[in-house]
Amino acid sequence: MSIKQDILTMLESRRGKYISGEELAENFGVSRAAVWKAIKMLRSEGHSITAVTNRGYALEISSDKLSEQSVRKHLTGDACLCRIETAGIVESTNTVLKFRGDKGENEGLILIAEGQTNGKGRIGRSFYSPEKTGLYLSVLLRPKIRAEQAMFITTAAAVAVAKAIESETGIESGIKWVNDIYCADRKVCGILTEASMDFETGALAYAVLGIGINISEPEGGFPDDIKEIVGTLRGKEAVGDLKSRLAAAILNYFFEYYKHIEEKTFIDEYKKRSILIGKWVTFARLEEKYEAQVVDIDNNARLVVRYENGEIEAIGAGEVSVRKK
Ligand code: BTN
Repeated sequence: MSIKQDILTMLESRRGKYISGEELAENFGVSRAAVWKAIKMLRSEGHSITAVTNRGYALEISSDKLSEQSVRKHLTGDACLCRIETAGIVESTNTVLKFRGDKGENEGLILIAEGQTNGKGRIGRSFYSPEKTGLYLSVLLRPKIRAEQAMFITTAAAVAVAKAIESETGIESGIKWVNDIYCADRKVCGILTEASMDFETGALAYAVLGIGINISEPEGGFPDDIKEIVGTLRGKEAVGDLKSRLAAAILNYFFEYYKHIEEKTFIDEYKKRSILIGKWVTFARLEEKYEAQVVDIDNNARLVVRYENGEIEAIGAGEVSVRKK
């Protein structure tokens, strides 16, 4: 690790508290001038660090710059084994990790970006990913499951995100089948899992789980086509280390489920958090439009609907919208 990274680790471990230049220099066996140089570089990268004569340096509580250190310090359990990379603006964190997956990168690589120029959503849509106001995170996985079980990665992640939002912000969150997280009737998070098949074995070669959360209002608001649907966790409030805490909490919850993914221990929580059970929904299939009432979510995370004629069906994929009264 470089001196700069070492200093950041120490400042992050005591966020909000001053550490003298002398202590930092002694601790890492470098001169105070070298400490100052590292602090200047960290500041130029966007870390808010205060320097006060006779007290030293402190990473401000309000600093919202993501770093490996700011996430790692909150990790627990299996998530501690992850390798975390942070980036400024990338095309899409999923695209970057797919490339790394194709190159043979091992499971457990996490990429978190400050913004995306071509954030991807489901069914070929885009995901609006302005700089700084959202959390854009992807996870490279090599699960030993069959391709048709890949949807459980998304389902487990949806529960992990909903729980993380609640534990880190206190805001209640629900899941709109299959992978959207809603708070107060607004979509705050979307999840996209992309998988690569090994055609010889029929198993997954790798999967990239991508999670995008709207944390605060982007400057100028959201674009017209989504502004009536999406919401944020923080409005215009300062974000501080919320992105880091949320990212860590998501990884902590997710990897607990992931280690026994085939046991589907997340299903009960997924059902409990469903915002669709009891609602009338519309969905399209082969150009036809259907209306039905959602009566349950089954143990394979399929949406169980009842048509007006009483017929019951379990739907495994697709997109539904709540019927307007
Ligand atoms: C959706 O709502 O349709 C899914 C959105 C998924 C967005 C996330 S942001 C991080 C990752 N990188 C992407 O390009 N997409 C996912």
